[in-house]
Amino acid sequence: MNRRYRKTIIAGNWKMNKTASETRAFADEFKALLPKSKWCDIVVCVPSADISAAVRAFKDSRVAVGAQNVYFEKSGAYTGEVSADMLADLGVKYVIVGHSERRALFGETDSIVNKKVHAVLNADLNPIICVGESLEQREMGVTMELIALQLKSALSGVSAEQVRRCVIAYEPIWAIGTGKNATGEQAAEVCTFIRATIRSLYGARIARSVTVQYGGSMKGENAAELLSHEDIDGGLIGGASLKADTLMAIIHAANQN
Ligand code: 13P
Repeated sequence: MNRRYRKTIIAGNWKMNKTASETRAFADEFKALLPKSKWCDIVVCVPSADISAAVRAFKDSRVAVGAQNVYFEKSGAYTGEVSADMLADLGVKYVIVGHSERRALFGETDSIVNKKVHAVLNADLNPIICVGESLEQREMGVTMELIALQLKSALSGVSAEQVRRCVIAYEPIWAIGTGKNATGEQAAEVCTFIRATIRSLYGARIARSVTVQYGGSMKGENAAELLSHEDIDGGLIGGASLKADTLMAIIHAANQN
């Protein structure tokens, strides 16, 4: 991480876990553990059904609430979908876009991801844009090409001013929920490449201000090493974000750098 030029952001992604009551219980426990000093920005991305409860529960703290998905249209006959304006009005600050689970299970293409990024930015929210390769793609040696394609597609039409509000999360699919994290070197290699790609699109000054996270089995035990790399500015955390103490362990690790 490099605190001088960009924010360190530790974000939890609860995926489809916790009810509203469980959200309130988590918030009470988590807030009691929050350190006085501000080491990093903290975001908890909760299921849509828990957003109101989370915003209320974290209101008096510095924990921002994020959503895990959005639909790109502003309004209309899209049964079951939620717009970026609806999320903004509830008090959401971040929205995860293009998570590999949405790409694999719900048919989210690069083009849909791009539309969602624009919808999120137009609602004055911050997208957390996920990119990452499968094990097969890594073994075929196409990781960098794939990351460049996903990133350039996601950012197509995004202005230099807007890209400052984007967070990029590198999440190798083979490390998600597997307990097998990328090594610091593997993660840093791709995160550095992500920044270089942003540099090629927007120039050096903008590229150094963008937060690039790593996600994939990040936990208290490996976070300090991962975050010690210059281009890894935080984490997007699944399993370890479900318990207040395990998420807090990562926040403490962020303070060691
Ligand atoms: P895990 O931390 O459970 O591997 O999940 C990572 C992830 O997908 C965060 O978005």
